[in-house]
This record gives sequence, C-alpha cells and structure tokens, in this order.
Amino acid sequence: MKVIEMPAEGDAVKAKLICAGVLISGCSSSQSALNPAGAGAEQIARLFWWMAGGATIIWLVMVALSIYALHLNPVAHHRQKSALFIIGGGAIAPTIILTILLIYGLNLLPALLARPPAGTLQIEVEGYQWWWKVSYPAQSGKPVELANEIRLPRGEPVEFILTSKDVVHSFWIPSLGGKVDMIPGRTTRLTLHPTKTGHFRGACAEYCGASHAYMNFTVDVVEKEEFDEWLAQQSTGRITPQSASVERGEALFLQTGCGACHTIRGTEADGKIGPDLTHIGSRNSLGADMFPNNRENLQKWIAHVSALKPGVKMPAFRALKDDEYQTLSKYLEQLK
Ligand code: CUA
Repeated sequence: MKVIEMPAEGDAVKAKLICAGVLISGCSSSQSALNPAGAGAEQIARLFWWMAGGATIIWLVMVALSIYALHLNPVAHHRQKSALFIIGGGAIAPTIILTILLIYGLNLLPALLARPPAGTLQIEVEGYQWWWKVSYPAQSGKPVELANEIRLPRGEPVEFILTSKDVVHSFWIPSLGGKVDMIPGRTTRLTLHPTKTGHFRGACAEYCGASHAYMNFTVDVVEKEEFDEWLAQQSTGRITPQSASVERGEALFLQTGCGACHTIRGTEADGKIGPDLTHIGSRNSLGADMFPNNRENLQKWIAHVSALKPGVKMPAFRALKDDEYQTLSKYLEQLK
C-alpha cells in the first residue's frame, strides 16, 4: 500500500519565498494594520502615522544637532545657556511631545472599547491549539459552528465574544481593529466595525505552543445581502450525496471513526474535539489557513497531518488505501 506522498522539499522553499514576498508586500497586504478596512483599524493607523511622523521629526532634529555639534569649536560655552539647552531639549521638549501623544492615544480608547448597541451581531470565537471555533447565531436557535473562517457584513458593528479552551491565545484581524487576548476561564470582548469589503487575514498574536505560527484564519467582509445568504447556507445540515462515490465517502468517513472528533450536522458524526466539517468544502483553506482547500491537500492532510502541523492533536491516518484517501477527500470537497 502506498500512502499519499509527503509534500516535497520544494514546497518548503516555495513557502519560504511566499513568506519573503508577504514581508515585502506587508504594508498593503490582507494582514496589515496599515491597510485599514475597519473603524478601529483606521484610528490605530492614524495614531501610528502621527507617532511615526513625530518620531521622524525628532530624529531629524537630533541628526541636525549632532552635525552642528561636530562643527562647533571646542571652546567653553556659556554655562547658563548650556543648562537651558539641556533642560529644554532633554526634559521639557520630550515631556511636551510625549504628553501630547499620550493624550491623543488615550483619547482613542473609549471609542475602541465601547460596547456596541443592543441587537449587534455577536460571534463567539473559541481558541484551541491551534485553530478557531467560530459560532454564529442562527434563526433555528442553535448556533452554527464553523472553523478558521469568519464572514462579516460591511457597514455594521459586530461583537466577538472570545474564550479559550486551553492556553492564552490572542485574536487579531489587523486590517479591522486591535487585538484582544483569549484567556482560559474568562470571556473577553471585541467590537469591530468593517467599513470596506474584501478578503483579510486574522492571526493568533500570542505565542501559544509549537504551531502558534499556523494558527490563522480568513476574514471576508461582504455586503449584508451576501452575508445573509452565506449564513443561511452554512446553517443547513447534511448535504445529501449526489453520487455513489460520494455516498461511499460518507460511509467511509463514519466507519473510519472521523465522527468521534468531527461533526457533520445531520449525520452520526457528532464529535466535538476537532472542527465542525459540515461545510468544509466551502472554506478557503485547510489547517487554520495553512493550505488552499482542495482535494490534493485534503488527502495530504488526512495522511500526514502530524508532519504538516507540529503538535496537532489529530493523528495522521496512514492505514487507508490510496483509493480510500481519494474517496474521502472527494466527499469532503463537495461539502459546500
Ligand atoms: Cu494561539 Cu498563538
């Protein structure tokens, strides 16, 4: 039996090149606080530019003074004038500048921390090593559980209710607003107000173990109508298999024991340890935004998960036959 091949070393090189590209294009990327698409991020970016501007002016003044000092004749200076210069430049000027920046920064806090109006959409996000459980309220009364993917309607505030099941994580969508820690045993809250549609990326901003760097998620801000349609579609349960091979895939999923950890609503699979897979085929990515979601990567994920994501709790399934990997991944791929 030949188990699906591991990703080649070339993939690692490609990943490094992609990382380098991301760094270079960082400021305008989907994960940049300097590319704001939300009310909170706009305020934070403005504060950053004021501070960067202030720091640049101070740096230029210091460079100018250093050059001036280099060209001075080494003679004794007037004591009183020198003392005034040192006190003025070394104590009074920094105190005034830092006080202005502090007042400006603190002034932003009430708006950033304000609770949203009643009736605001509330999304619960639970942090796990190393993925995100996302629960939306649904018309049926039972929350709709998703993973590693968030969709938001543009132009409306949304409140995130944040908790953690294991260690401290930190929830951060740089393009939309500030970050908030997710602390085991406590509930923290964050209100965001997306102002532009687009595809963004969120990340865990607190070191939380071996695969902390692989704990990301995608964020799509869409118009309200599209959001309502999407949520209604995500609220539906089991997708009836449309072909014999898909039916075989569903049976294989249940026989192999995947349902002990994963839920597929409307089937016997009701596990709560791993992500809900009811609509996994509609997601952008696999493994908390590690790989594009396609059949090939689904097969690699099932066969080699522990090698792909260090420390992950899901065991690699090495005992399936090649055609079974295909059947299983084909089944998961069509769960849209
Ligand atoms: Cu979760 Cu870092």
